[in-house]
Amino acid sequence: WPFFAPYVKAINELKRVRNAVILAHNYQTPEIYNCVADVVGDSFQLAREATKTDAEVIVQCGVHFMAETSKILNPEKTVLIPDSRAGCSLATSITAADVRALREKHPGVPVAVYVNTTAEVKAEADICLTSGNAVQVVESLGAPEVMVLPDQYLAAWIASQTKVKIISWNGACEVHERFTAEELRSYRADNPGITILAHPECPPDVLAEADFTGSTAKLADYVKQRKPKKVALITECSMADNVMADAPETEFIKPCNLCPHMKRITLPAILDSLLHMRDEVLVDPVIAARARRSVERMVNLKI
Ligand code: 13P
Ligand code: SF4
Repeated sequence: WPFFAPYVKAINELKRVRNAVILAHNYQTPEIYNCVADVVGDSFQLAREATKTDAEVIVQCGVHFMAETSKILNPEKTVLIPDSRAGCSLATSITAADVRALREKHPGVPVAVYVNTTAEVKAEADICLTSGNAVQVVESLGAPEVMVLPDQYLAAWIASQTKVKIISWNGACEVHERFTAEELRSYRADNPGITILAHPECPPDVLAEADFTGSTAKLADYVKQRKPKKVALITECSMADNVMADAPETEFIKPCNLCPHMKRITLPAILDSLLHMRDEVLVDPVIAARARRSVERMVNLKI
């Protein structure tokens, strides 16, 4: 903490000078999440909050697609990401041309794309979805069949929760696909009575071993509201650290995989970003306008 304090002070002062707001994803490290963030949440909550801010500058502590989403929703604001190399294996798994080819292959089938995609891919979609609203978004389309791109595992999980037929793609999260069902069985064997909560980007055999599946915000709410005695969060490492602070009665066992992209965002990088107003995230206005329709259609759903 002594190492962090000067950065925290400088960032919070500079935020005021720049009229900036810091949006931080649940996978950000505790010193970012607790000491400099103005808004924390899952990717849907961050997208929604991005539409409400009066600040002139948004500093996105998360990965690049999240910053692009903020820019799409706020074309007149300056959106900064402290490290523009913070990518996502899902966002790079599919291109706009892939979506167009899928539309030709499945004429008339609506396309819902995960928010973990580039602006170009969002521009080709009918609507966006996140792990926090996926089933409701798919069902809101009122179609017998829906394409859910690009995460094959999120798509499989949605298919298990709805009667709508789901067509998917072969993308995967490099962090969540590493968990195994065997690993979860061993946590249960070693910790009788444990509650296991998993993110829907995990493979289906992993989710089959979990007690509950949901977005990062839903996993956090489960722990805070239901107060399990012992819990394992099958997701990125910082989640448990962040939820733990609000759940003193719960014991956490901490199996986790690290997202190397999320971990590119650090206090020194945030300070540098605010000092030098970089890296600015720009989206081609024509692409942004088309992508905005998909994101706003999701944000405006009454779910
Ligand atoms: P959430 O929408 O659940 O926060 O997930 C975003 C993400 O990148 C998970 O890996
Ligand atoms: Fe992308 Fe997975 Fe990292 Fe989330 S955890 S940002 S889905 S690579």
